[in-house]
Amino acid sequence: MKKRILVVDDERGIIETLSGILEDEGYQTFQAEDAEKALKILEKEDIDLILLDVWLPGISGIDTIKLIKERYQDIPVIMISGHGNVEIAVQAIKLGAFDFLEKPLSIERVILSVERALQFKLLERENINLRSSLIKKYELIGSSNVMKNIKRQIELIAKGDSRVLIFGESGTGKELVARAIHSLSERCNASFVEVNCAAIPQELIESELFGHEKGAFTGAIDKKIGKFELADGGTLFLDEIGDMSFLTQAKLLRVIETQKFQRVGGTKDIKVSVRIISATNKDLSEEIKKGNFREDLYYRLNVVPIYLPPLRERKEDIPELINCFISEYVMEKGWKNKTLTERAIKILQDYDWPGNVRELKNAVERLMIMTLSDVIDIDDIERVGIVRKEFSGESYFQYNSLKEARDAFERDFILKKLKDNNWNMTKTAELIGIERSNLYKKIKSLGIPLPKDFSEN
Ligand SMILES: Nc1ncnc2c1ncn2[C@@H]1O[C@H](COP(=O)(O)OP(=O)(O)OP(=O)(O)O)[C@@H](O)[C@H]1O
Ligand SMILES: [Mg+2]
Repeated sequence: MKKRILVVDDERGIIETLSGILEDEGYQTFQAEDAEKALKILEKEDIDLILLDVWLPGISGIDTIKLIKERYQDIPVIMISGHGNVEIAVQAIKLGAFDFLEKPLSIERVILSVERALQFKLLERENINLRSSLIKKYELIGSSNVMKNIKRQIELIAKGDSRVLIFGESGTGKELVARAIHSLSERCNASFVEVNCAAIPQELIESELFGHEKGAFTGAIDKKIGKFELADGGTLFLDEIGDMSFLTQAKLLRVIETQKFQRVGGTKDIKVSVRIISATNKDLSEEIKKGNFREDLYYRLNVVPIYLPPLRERKEDIPELINCFISEYVMEKGWKNKTLTERAIKILQDYDWPGNVRELKNAVERLMIMTLSDVIDIDDIERVGIVRKEFSGESYFQYNSLKEARDAFERDFILKKLKDNNWNMTKTAELIGIERSNLYKKIKSLGIPLPKDFSEN
């Protein structure tokens, strides 16, 4: 599409000359003799660039650029003036003009300045997009005190080069944190290279990490560059470090200590600058005691520890996470926006989330797919397999009256037993020692949700 340029000058002759030159260069032009008309055009049209004369009748050029910059911050403005008015030029640049051209105008100078301004705007926009997508992509959601602390910690350590060891159960966001550290660090323009120590077979891990020379072992048909070399200048993320074999641990330790290594089958020393971030869901001190993990390596890797608590210990983050995931699916997959009822959120908050944030994210995805209405409620949640917390004991203390607590307990208890017995009423009633008719009454009075395909049995 043609770029659209607005030319503002009170001299008809100048407007026509400039428009002619620009149209020959393939731009589309709009014309205004004064500020009022220019502002009207800006309201209606998408303008990419403005050429603005300093001397205008009515509102002066300087006041006009002020107005434009207030309302259309990112449209570049090139000012034009009579010969030799340095003071006004300085003022215009201070107000945000991209460039300043003097009359008599040189055609080449005009074209060059216009090209530069448009190029600059494009780059600026790309930069903003890139930066926001990067930052957004690795943004940690959560305003609980622990999360706030972790975010602060990440910002502090990102600047340095110290090794980081991230602990936390599966799905708590360890990889996200590692990527966030990298993207906030000075190494952000170099690679973030990931190695999953648990997924690579023992006999391949060394060649994976350090690379190998051609013919180093059977099957090594070509030379291979290892992850350490690929991460040069950047960050190496050693995921599930607790699963690395004892032998490889020794090699890794030596690389950290000597700052150099050789490819498998090679003799040449290779030196790289790599920041190591590791992660584990194992209790490494326990592994050290059992003799599975080297203590010396542990201290080398664990210069800065970050502990990610399980989601059940920061339940206040759950509503924010849910909203965030919903908007993510809406934006990225174009799904229809949905909201959750308060009681639905409450159930999700009461649930224990053994799979942590990953499980929550998957649940939100399933809820969005499987709920047809715009509002997600309790039964939708039960349909995707998340149930009211059962037998937690603790949750009954939220009730004041004994009756409410007893009802809540009975509801949980009966629901669990019904499920355990495949919704067989006769069997369940017998098992829990009440009449079948009584069980049926309780299901009704306690509002126990029955599966859609339930038939009385
Ligand atoms: N605080 C958070 N804010 C937003 N998204 C999060 C957060 N924590 C985790 N996630 C998301 O949850 C999912 C799991 O996170 P991640 O892969 O980082 O966990 P992990 O600890 O590395 O898990 P595992 O031990 O299973 O490898 C990802 O989609 C991640 O983006
Ligand atoms: Mg992970």
